[in-house]
Amino acid sequence: REELLFSYKGILYPVTVCSPEVFRAMESLEARTDDVILAGYPKSGTNWVGQILTDLVATFEKKNQDEENSVNEEELQEFPYLEVGDIEKYERMNKLPSRRVIFTHLLPDNLPRSVFKNKAKILLLIRNPKDVATSFYHFSNGLSLLPSYETWDDFFIAFMTGKMPWGSYFNYLSEWNKHVDDENIMTITYEELKENRALGVKNIAAFFGISLTEEELQSVVEKSSFQSMKENSPKTHGAMGSILFRKGGVSDWKNLFNEDQNQEMDKAFEEHIAGTKLGTKLKY
Ligand code: PPS
Repeated sequence: REELLFSYKGILYPVTVCSPEVFRAMESLEARTDDVILAGYPKSGTNWVGQILTDLVATFEKKNQDEENSVNEEELQEFPYLEVGDIEKYERMNKLPSRRVIFTHLLPDNLPRSVFKNKAKILLLIRNPKDVATSFYHFSNGLSLLPSYETWDDFFIAFMTGKMPWGSYFNYLSEWNKHVDDENIMTITYEELKENRALGVKNIAAFFGISLTEEELQSVVEKSSFQSMKENSPKTHGAMGSILFRKGGVSDWKNLFNEDQNQEMDKAFEEHIAGTKLGTKLKY
C-alpha cells in the first residue's frame, strides 16, 4: 500500500495522480480575485459542487460575453483539480481567461500563496466525517489509482491516523477552520445542499457575484441532481462514473461503522473539531 503514496510537506498523496515536482510548479500559479475555487477533502462532494460551479460560470459567461471573447466550456473544464496535472499546467492556467473554476483537496497552507494574497474566492465544502470515511473506503477499493484496503477496519485505522491520501480529515478541518472568517471564504455542507439544493445554488451564485435568472438557476439545480449526474457520468467521467456516483446520500456510515468505531470517531470529533466554527456548521 505504501508504495502508492509519497509525502509532501507532511501529507501523503497518491503517486498515480500527484508528484512533488507538480507541487513545486504550482507555486507559479497566479490566482485571481475572480477565480472560483472549490476546496474540499476527498469524498466531500467535490464533483457535485464542481458541477454546480462550472454550470453557473458557463451560463453566466455565455450571456455576458460576446461570441468572440466567450470562454469555451472545454477551457473551463480543462483543469478541474489544481494538484493533478503536469508541471506546465500552471503556465497554461495563467493564460486562461477568467473566470477559472478550480477544485482542490489541499490544505490552505499547501495552496499557492497567491490564492490568499490575491483574495481569490473560495467555497469550502465539508461533509460529515463518518460519511466521508464511508465514501472514501468504497472509492479506494473500487479504483486502482488509490491504495486499497483489505478490510473496513484497516481503512478506519488509516482514516483516524491520517496515514492516507490527502492526510487526516480532522487535520483538514482544523486547518481550514483558521480561515473560516475570511471574507473571501464561504462554507457549505454536503448535508445542507442535499436538504435544499435550490437554496444552496442560490447562495453559491450570490457569493461569487454570479447573477442569473430564476430559470437559469433552476436549470443548474436540475442538472446537479444525483440522478442526472449519475446518468450523465459515462460522458463526464467515463468508467470512473459508476464508482464515483455511488449512493449520494446522508448517513450511509451506519452500514459500515461498528459501535466502537462510532464512539472512537465521536471522541476524536469532540476533541478536535466540535468546539470550532467549522465543527458547529458541520451536520454531525
Ligand atoms: S472525489 O473523488 O474525492 O473528488 O469525490 P467527491 O466528488 O468529493 O465525492 C464523491 C461523493 O459525492 C457524491 N455525489 C453526490 N451526492 C449528492 N448529489 C450529487 N449530485 C452527487 N454527486 C456526487 C458521490 O456519490 C460520493 O458520495 P458517496 O457517499 O460515495 O455516494
